[in-house]
Amino acid sequence: MIHITRRERFNAAHRLFRSDWSEEKNNEIFGGCANPNWHGHNYELFVTVKGNVNPELGYVINLKDLSGIIRTYITNRLDHRNLNVDVDFLRDVMTSTENVAIAIWRQLDPHIRALGCSLHCVKLVETENNYVEYFGE
Ligand code: NI
Repeated sequence: MIHITRRERFNAAHRLFRSDWSEEKNNEIFGGCANPNWHGHNYELFVTVKGNVNPELGYVINLKDLSGIIRTYITNRLDHRNLNVDVDFLRDVMTSTENVAIAIWRQLDPHIRALGCSLHCVKLVETENNYVEYFGE
């Protein structure tokens, strides 16, 4: 078993807020992340896949295939978008780094499995100081 990681990047806007809370409470809890006029991040997405090395090919997964899956199902749908309003699979989701990483896992998982591999980790870097890692449970 070996792990391999592909990085892709996207830029997106979002906002953390609860519509059932007052503006004051949103500001108190979420701070600048609650700005009604949105804010953006240069996200970095690291997708780690695990599997056995194919003895004929010498690799777990063709990185071109992995990159294609990530771009088709994730970055093409998130890049230069507003995560709160433009993305079907994030509808009604609080767009925290945690929740976005979990949603990305759910989108990618069936497509990785279809290639005979398993998803190991979705790491989403929101800022140079903050990232989350989701391992599927
Ligand atoms: Ni933010």
